[in-house]
Amino acid sequence: MDNPATEQDGYYAAERCDLSEFASLVARQLTSAEVPHADAIEKNIPVYNVPALADRLAEANARRALMAEWARILSSGAGVFVLKQALPDHGVIDEATAVYEQIIARESADGAEGADHFAAAGSNDRIWNSLQKLCIAAPYTFIRYFASPAIDAAAEAWLGPNYQITAQVNLVHPGGKAQQAHRDYHLGFQTAEVSATYPAHVHDLSPLMTLQGGIAHCDMPIESGTTKLLPYSQLYRPGYAAWRREDFRAHFEAYCLQLPLDKGDAIFFNPALLHAAGENRSADVHRMVNLLQVSSAFGRAMESVDRLNMCKALYHPLRAAWNAGWLSDAELNAVIAAAAEGYSFPTNLDRDPPTGGLAPETQAALLKASVVSQISEDDLIVRLDGQAARRRP
Ligand SMILES: [Fe+2]
Repeated sequence: MDNPATEQDGYYAAERCDLSEFASLVARQLTSAEVPHADAIEKNIPVYNVPALADRLAEANARRALMAEWARILSSGAGVFVLKQALPDHGVIDEATAVYEQIIARESADGAEGADHFAAAGSNDRIWNSLQKLCIAAPYTFIRYFASPAIDAAAEAWLGPNYQITAQVNLVHPGGKAQQAHRDYHLGFQTAEVSATYPAHVHDLSPLMTLQGGIAHCDMPIESGTTKLLPYSQLYRPGYAAWRREDFRAHFEAYCLQLPLDKGDAIFFNPALLHAAGENRSADVHRMVNLLQVSSAFGRAMESVDRLNMCKALYHPLRAAWNAGWLSDAELNAVIAAAAEGYSFPTNLDRDPPTGGLAPETQAALLKASVVSQISEDDLIVRLDGQAARRRP
């Protein structure tokens, strides 16, 4: 598995990525023998007919065999599969759509800009944390919407039990532009510089921590801009270092595939799969997808730690030590890494949007900048409390 051409000393770098190696991976062809439970293979993507799988999903051993097949697709296969009619009750989808449209109208009236990671402002509407908002606004709709054994099995197939669902609505209007090819959370949401600081084995870990999915809220012909996908691209291990390179993006655009989706269909893919929302060239399809991002139960520490209060307690002595030259930069970084929260997520993306990058400022970055710039303790407390308040659910 090691690839000395790209992984030197345990790290990946964009300039060492090899397009020909990537091209040979994504040229693979899926065979029906690899996906015996699939209803069809369309454009190298396995498609499952969920109503026909109902009995299988209800029986423990058969369900496990199906989940093993889905896990193989995500890890070593095409990297993506479609569940036709995962939500066969279109009435409940329409109810949820109506709730989401009200939320969009209310949030835009309130002046929310809905800063979006990958889209230009104005071409789409985004609801952050559509999971909680639907649950609070319409609990009966929420119950019927998420009572989906197929979606439960898809999440469990990749992450095991006790997963954590989050969701975001993306509504792309006619004229909405295409995204650029990218990978998703975790490493896909970091800058190239930050991504390069994580060792190669963590690049392998990142896609195991989440499952990316989406539920179609309307019929979506290809011209409405369904997601462009490049099957097997998750197999390219240095892909988080490669995806911003122009030659990799060009290869993606040359070989990516799009499938039409019907209302109630769901799609799931490995978050390391290269993908991009397509351009909405339709005249009248307002493409609404509820994006599901499902996280591993394991993405948490064993103890809950009050890092906010630790930062406040440390600031005065830390600043004094820095001022007096008792701490080197490396030592200051080590203290901050031990005390402060070093990751941007989870956060409340309505209040804490990723302006100026893909990820909001971390507590550790705020503390470091405050020490170095010598702001007052009172100002530091205001900034830390403000950040903590923005991150609250
Ligand atoms: Fe994405």
